[in-house]
Amino acid sequence: MRKKVIAGNWKMNYNFHQSIAFIEKLKEEVLKKERNCDIIICPNFIALSEAKKIIKDTTIKLGAQNIYYEDSGAFTGETSADMIKSVGCEFVILGHSERRTIFKESDELINKKIKQALKHGLHPIFCIGETLEEREKGITNNIVERQLELGLSNVTPEELLKIIIAYEPVWAIGTGKNATPEQAQEVHSFIRNYLNVEYGLVVADKIIIQYGGSVKPENAKDLLSQPDIDGALVGGACLKVDSFIGIIESC
Ligand code: 13P
Repeated sequence: MRKKVIAGNWKMNYNFHQSIAFIEKLKEEVLKKERNCDIIICPNFIALSEAKKIIKDTTIKLGAQNIYYEDSGAFTGETSADMIKSVGCEFVILGHSERRTIFKESDELINKKIKQALKHGLHPIFCIGETLEEREKGITNNIVERQLELGLSNVTPEELLKIIIAYEPVWAIGTGKNATPEQAQEVHSFIRNYLNVEYGLVVADKIIIQYGGSVKPENAKDLLSQPDIDGALVGGACLKVDSFIGIIESC
């Protein structure tokens, strides 16, 4: 039985002070009772170090939203795996559709980042998903398979177990229009079958596959009750303590 994992991708929201105030409040709410799921927060880089201090005695885990694939050097504006590890991150979101489209990240670049994260003992949250156009053309599975194949190139089965896959249909991100539980389950099941064929049943059975795209307290329970949906990667609804807790409670 896979334990559900709820992760909050804060994207480019909240300054340092707002982030700290938010995490203090979230911590207070999370600690009110025992939680059935793992909880990860991914604030902006500027808040990571202080966030870790606040959550250190709790079960809340910390993730960053990006890294670069080199160890160090002349890469102005970039942040390394070792840097985020040194402030207490265990996770890093990679392959997000906003990085793919706005920042033109290719599958090859994402693969390098995944390998680098693994080399430093981080758990990548590896995002994949199709656009509306691709879904309408009926090529969702082909797109997802290609993203998996290229993004996970040279990743061993042992390494794969350190990765969380997040299926985020691009048309559902920030639109308020989530995939139906059936639509999401269909792709999650396809992903798990692909991993079964490529990496074996033990890995495919254990790996966490999150759904992301307009997850809210109102739709979380139905999505999370699908057999192959093991958690959620939440954008907008993770920016309010009440709605993030609402999603956590639906586990
Ligand atoms: P929304 O929950 O705002 O749709 O964002 C999803 C997402 O992109 C999480 O990574």
